Amino acid sequence: MEKKNKILNVEEIHTFYGESHIIQGLSLFVAENEAVSILGRNGVGKTTTLRSIMGLTPPRSGKITIDGEDTTKLPAHAVSMMGVAYVPAERHIFPGLHVEENLKLAARPGDGDNPWTLERIYDQFPILADRTKQDGSTLSGGEQQMLAIGRALISNPKIIILDEPSQGLSPLLVDAVTECVQNFCVKSGITLMVVEQNYRMALKVASRHYLMGTKGKIAGVATTQELNDNPQIIHDHLSV
Ligand SMILES: Nc1ncnc2c1ncn2[C@@H]1O[C@H](COP(=O)(O)OP(=O)(O)OP(=O)(O)O)[C@@H](O)[C@H]1O
Ligand SMILES: [Mg+2]
Repeated sequence: MEKKNKILNVEEIHTFYGESHIIQGLSLFVAENEAVSILGRNGVGKTTTLRSIMGLTPPRSGKITIDGEDTTKLPAHAVSMMGVAYVPAERHIFPGLHVEENLKLAARPGDGDNPWTLERIYDQFPILADRTKQDGSTLSGGEQQMLAIGRALISNPKIIILDEPSQGLSPLLVDAVTECVQNFCVKSGITLMVVEQNYRMALKVASRHYLMGTKGKIAGVATTQELNDNPQIIHDHLSV
């Protein structure tokens, strides 16, 4: 098999909030065009891992590279300029701006053969095309998640990082968002990392899964096939 470029590489990071040592030597990587998940119980440090990668809560030690470039000490805006689109669990839709303004603010030219443009987003997300002039903050939870994903795509990033895209959504909307991530990210070969407690969703969108245990470390890694064949692995780590 062709050896793929690591778009994201995290080596032995340690991250603190004050004196609380949350992430204690975590390593992971995401290869180009790969969709990877991080699964773990409440409070193990999944969001903190993403905040470390984004430069929002930088690690005290260890190393993070994006497409080979060291970003460990970079502030969040610089990490985002390196081509990392982060969709936090709260989605951060800009209030007072309608759907199209939210998308236009995030748009960046892409260098591939088929970059994401406003037209392409509307074509793929009819829900957004029908609501171009609606204030983003008045969208339903599922629509806001679609807008947040559309905003990530239109920045034509090297990697999209989603924190709990299913959080707070009804089962029907979880299905819609899952389908959206499968269709618009996974099938178009976007490099993706998703944090989820909803492991059913994670198994549908990602092909490789990091199991985060206590002490902010990766306790194991498994493919979708391995987790489907041995559901016990998930039970052991997530107690579901
Ligand atoms: N700003 C903060 N200051 C101090 N401690 C924090 C802060 N943010 C998070 N923590 C603590 O860090 C630990 C990890 O939190 P984190 O949000 O990364 O977990 P998580 O795995 O994303 O959890 P969840 O599944 O509930 O989203 C928790 O014990 C949490 O209380
Ligand atoms: Mg979290």
